[in-house]
Amino acid sequence: MDRTLVVHVLVLLGLTGLGVVTAQAAGPEPARRAELVRMVRQDCGSCHGMTLKGGLGPALLPESLAGKPSASLVATVMSGRPGTPMPGWSRFVNEAEAEWIIQRLQEGFPPVALGAGS
Ligand code: HEC
Repeated sequence: MDRTLVVHVLVLLGLTGLGVVTAQAAGPEPARRAELVRMVRQDCGSCHGMTLKGGLGPALLPESLAGKPSASLVATVMSGRPGTPMPGWSRFVNEAEAEWIIQRLQEGFPPVALGAGS
């Protein structure tokens, strides 16, 4: 990598980081939250269980995720886990949304009807 490219990559990473922090503070819009809650319950639930207690994929309950670094869980949601059935979701959610989902999972995921409020 030449020097200019390195600088560009670093600047890009910096900007992406800032975007995540800003978007995270506000969080997704309420309507989008409801969509994300429905998606997690239905699509993620098809592997992780409708109550997120585990199935093909492991449980995604607060006690199961306790002590696991959020950043790596967010990376798992965005990129999947190569060599396992866990797919990446970056075509459907952005980084801030994945971050929001992980935060909700760590607290105890809201039911579909309450998704818009939390
Ligand atoms: C096709 C099945 C499948 C779907 C759909 C799926 N997952 Fe997974 N997921 C898995 C498997 C299997 C693993 C365990 C991978 C491993 O062995 O490390 C996993 C791992 C994870 C982990 C890491 C858990 C831990 O304790 O380290 C998180 C977080 C996660 N999935 C979130 C999600 C979310 C959020 C969605 C929906 C956006 C989703 N998954 C959809 C199969 C799936």
